[in-house]
Amino acid sequence: MSGPAGRLVALEGIDGSGKSTQATILAQRLGALLTYEPGGTELGVAIRALLLDPEHRPSARAEALLMAADRAQHVHEVIEPALAAGRWVVTDRYCGSTLAYQGFGRGLGAPSLHGVLEFATAGVAADLSVLLEVPLELARARTAGSWRDRLERDDDDFHARVAAGYQELVRSDPDRWVVVDGTADVETVADAVHAAVVGRLGRPG
Ligand code: TYD
Repeated sequence: MSGPAGRLVALEGIDGSGKSTQATILAQRLGALLTYEPGGTELGVAIRALLLDPEHRPSARAEALLMAADRAQHVHEVIEPALAAGRWVVTDRYCGSTLAYQGFGRGLGAPSLHGVLEFATAGVAADLSVLLEVPLELARARTAGSWRDRLERDDDDFHARVAAGYQELVRSDPDRWVVVDGTADVETVADAVHAAVVGRLGRPG
């Protein structure tokens, strides 16, 4: 007999939205496995370096495929085995990031990416994606001063398209997305994220 099913929760948002902090706290509260993209596996670390190095200039399609390759390995090595063992998994970014950044930000279009994502994940979809909503200016202010990777160096228009893309993803799939205001202090946001996840998915068994 199989045990209780694992669940996959993805934290999503623009750079500086606070999702890495929130993913860490959420995983702790749920007793879930914490992981992230890009770079959640050994192969992924190498792919991440290729992706974020300002020296490289991948085309939009190459960028999408590198993200997808990272995810394929991540699902195979980390996510799927944990879910199969009945664990809950919290991932800092998942398919929503590719749809928002490459689909909307780079203009590839979400529909053209669905097949790639389905292939990369072997159909493992997030049970819930949590969008941490923070105005662009606040996100910018939070990341100011720290080293900025290749994507973070993209112009404001790109990041505005990503932010608008996230809104569109929520609108088009409200059952699989929930929006949490990410502007408050860390504990307040953490409480809201936890409540949203438990409200939608229940508690780990
Ligand atoms: P992330 O590790 O979340 O950034 P940070 O190290 O600043 O917390 O993600 C790195 C960048 O990769 C970020 O700008 C978002 C981007 N990204 C995509 O464009 N598409 C994707 O599918 C993923 C997973 C990330």
